[in-house]
This record gives sequence, structure tokens and C-alpha cells, in this order.
Amino acid sequence: MRLISTTQIQSDMVLARPIYSEGCLILANGTNNLERYIRNLNRLGIFEIYVEDDISEGITIPDVITSKTRNICKETLRTAFKDFTQKGILQVDTMQDVIDHVINEILENQDVLISLNDIGAADEYTYTHSVSTTVYALMLGQRVGYKEDMLKRLAMGTILHDIGKIYIDRDIMFKEGKLTDKEYEYVKKHTILGYNALKGCKSLSELSRIISLTHHEHVDGTGYPRGLQGDELHTFSKIVAVADVYDALTSTRCYRAKWSNRQAMDMLMQSCGTKFETELVCQFLHLIAVFPNGTQVRLSDGRIGIVKEQNPGMPLRPMVRILQEADGTSKDIYDVNLMTELNIVIAGDEFDYITEDKSKQVG
Ligand SMILES: [Fe+2]
Ligand SMILES: [Fe+2]
Repeated sequence: MRLISTTQIQSDMVLARPIYSEGCLILANGTNNLERYIRNLNRLGIFEIYVEDDISEGITIPDVITSKTRNICKETLRTAFKDFTQKGILQVDTMQDVIDHVINEILENQDVLISLNDIGAADEYTYTHSVSTTVYALMLGQRVGYKEDMLKRLAMGTILHDIGKIYIDRDIMFKEGKLTDKEYEYVKKHTILGYNALKGCKSLSELSRIISLTHHEHVDGTGYPRGLQGDELHTFSKIVAVADVYDALTSTRCYRAKWSNRQAMDMLMQSCGTKFETELVCQFLHLIAVFPNGTQVRLSDGRIGIVKEQNPGMPLRPMVRILQEADGTSKDIYDVNLMTELNIVIAGDEFDYITEDKSKQVG
């Protein structure tokens, strides 16, 4: 299996992971003749898909939770947001059941590096992002030593961290292109609006609720809405700040292409001690696959291949299946283990393109 851009779709490829839009299955595993669907996928804001083909045969992409659990989680959240908007009632119990399930799966998969990009339609972004951010936050929370009770509170607060976006005008929320200063100030209000909405929900702990208000604060006081800093912020807020930005950067958005995992990691590292707590970023980087299995990479000697397997503890030196020689010719497929070929490094991956200004990033 590998992740490709829809521009790379070829006739021998078969869909390897299902694609959903608004909770409905639009393309099932095993779908072939994928060229037929490119235009409709792009119209939904889907520009990458997981496929099986000859060259990726035998490559697996492990995830800490199953696609099924991700989708149940997204659907539960969608229903919860809808009920909350229409009836003013937040179904905490139902969400708690799903979260318990997510926590159990994560605890069972502690050794798996997080590598899966969740594919979802652009207008599903809030749900996809909320679930992925929760997975990242839970992995990080577990790594810093939280036990089950605290993980539950952390997860509940994280899955609801952007609930305030239900009050934000969709045309601005999903605007293609950069937000104006005025629009950006308006979108920032999702923090206060979210917290005010959750304040009345007594079955949520204050530790969970506060995440909606504080997930855009920075440890140096430059964040919003209140400019809190250092110890004024609970560790939950600092964890979600890291998880939220990482997921936002590595997701395709209506106003820009996604960043590669490496670019997002670089950004986190550059912001240690300013936006994010250094220790949390260091711990987080241990959890992420820099070059996930199935990623197309270019080696420093010019050869092109796809990542086949991770080498434990060596995220920059995986096993690579070579597809093309430096001179552009293709021989039989063979593997290179970067743990033994130490003079070669990965020079870049297919998502290594820096795009426009990210200063108005709203995760
Ligand atoms: Fe967010
Ligand atoms: Fe947010």
C-alpha cells in the first residue's frame, strides 16, 4: 500500500483504504479504474488516496487506531455537533464510549509510529482534524505518563477543542485563499465561543473544557485569546497546541497544500520554547514516522523509491524499495536498507514543497 496524489493514479491501481464524505462511503476498498473518479474526488477536496499496486505490494501502513474506529469517532462527533447546534444538548455519554474505545486501541498499539494521513473531504475537515488531533494528544499524553482517567479527560477536551467553529461562518471557515486580518480575528473567536458553549455542560470536567479556550495559546504568551504563558497554561493545553498544529500542517486545506511530516516537525522544533513547550515537542517527535511506509522518496544519490519498512529508533533511515535509478532507468525492484548504507540519506519526499504564508494558520 502507498499514499499517492490523485495526479499519479494509474490503471493498475486499486483503492486500499475506503473514502468517506459526510459519513457516507463513496469509494470502497478494492475499487479499480480509479481514473474515473479523479475529478469527483478533487471536487470534494480529496487530492491523495491510499492505493495498492505492484510496486507497493506487501508494504503495510500501520495505524494506532483502525479506519473503522476513526470513522465511528468522526460520525459520533458529527452527530454530537449537530445535536448541540439544533437542541443545545451535548451527548457526552456516547462520545465517552467511543473515546474509551480509541484509548484502548492506542494502549494496545504503543509501539506503532503515527503515520497515517486520514483522507477526508474538505468540508469534513473539522471532524477529521478533531479525531486526528485527539489521537496525537493521547499518544503524547500517554508518553508523558498520564493514566487512564487523565487520558479520558484529555481526549474529551481534545475532540471538542474546535467546537466553537460551529458558530463561525462557513464561507470564512472554508475560504480558499488567505484570510484578511479582519477575518482572521473573527475566526480566532472560535476559542471563546467554544468554551462558552461547553461551560454549561456539567458532565465535562473543567480540565476538558479549558482546552477549547486555550489550544491556541503559546508558552511565550504570543498566542490567543488571552496571551497566557508558561505555568499559566495546563499541560493539557500545551499538549493539544502541539497536536493541533501538527495535524493542521500535515493536512490538505482549502487554502494550501499539505506539508510533509518533516517540514511540520521542523516547524515544531523551530518553535520550541516560543510557541510550544520544548519537552513536549521532543516527546512528540518520538511518536511520529518522518517518512511513513509507502511514501515516495528521493535518495541523496538520485535514486527514487518508496519507504518499505521503519527501522526502530531510526526514523530518518528506513528500508526503501528502489523503483528508479539515478539516470532515470528502471531495473528490477530491490531494497536498500539505510541503516547499513550510511553514506546515503533521504533528500526529500513527494510532499516536500513549501507553500505560501502559514502565519494565519487556524488549527
Ligand atoms: Fe484545531
Ligand atoms: Fe482551534
